[in-house]
Amino acid sequence: MNRKYRKTVVAGNWKMNKTVSETRAFAEELKNSLPRSKRCSIILCVPFVNITSAIKVLKDSRIAVAAQNVHWESHGAYTGEVSAAMLADLGVKYVLIGHSERRQYFNETDTFVNKKIRAALQAGLRPILCVGETLEQRELDVTSELIAYQIKSALSGISAEEMRHIIIAYEPVWAIGTGKTATPEQAGEVCGTIRAVLRKLYGARVARATTIQYGGSMNPKNASTLLAQPDVDGGLIGSASLELSDFLQIIYAANEE
Ligand code: 13P
Repeated sequence: MNRKYRKTVVAGNWKMNKTVSETRAFAEELKNSLPRSKRCSIILCVPFVNITSAIKVLKDSRIAVAAQNVHWESHGAYTGEVSAAMLADLGVKYVLIGHSERRQYFNETDTFVNKKIRAALQAGLRPILCVGETLEQRELDVTSELIAYQIKSALSGISAEEMRHIIIAYEPVWAIGTGKTATPEQAGEVCGTIRAVLRKLYGARVARATTIQYGGSMNPKNASTLLAQPDVDGGLIGSASLELSDFLQIIYAANEE
């Protein structure tokens, strides 16, 4: 973390978990258990159907609600999809874009990811752009090139001004839901690579100010050492965000001096 230049952000990605009543109960307890000091921002990425309830419970709190996906068109014949304007109208502040599960199971390409980022920004939503390599790509030693490619294509046509609204999440695919966490050094190294790519694209100021999270089996045990890396500015947490006490412990770790 480097709080001097950028925000520390802890986000829970619930994926396809929790009903509306479970969401209400969790959000209520979470908002009442937060650390007093506000050294890290907190986001809950909930399923579409839980957004309204989460926003209602969290309205006077400092926890923002995010969606886990968005369509790139503003409206039209796209059965089953949800537009950025619809999300913004509900009070959603952030949206995950390009999560590896979307890329893997729903054929989301870098072009779609780019279109979704543009649509989200246009509607006033803040994208959390997810990038990450597979185990095969890591073993082939193409991680840096792959990550640079994902970042460049996702951000094609995005201005330096717009970059102020974007968070990047580095999530190695091999670490998601597997219990295998990247070592702090591996996480720090790739987050550093991402910052170097941003520096090339947008200059030092934008690169320095961008929040870059790590995600992939982050838990209360490993959070502090991962967050101690200077280029790791928070976490995008899956499984451990479903358990209130685990999620809180990570928030408290991110909140430490
Ligand atoms: P896990 O924390 O369950 O590995 O999931 C990480 C993730 O995909 C968050 O978006």
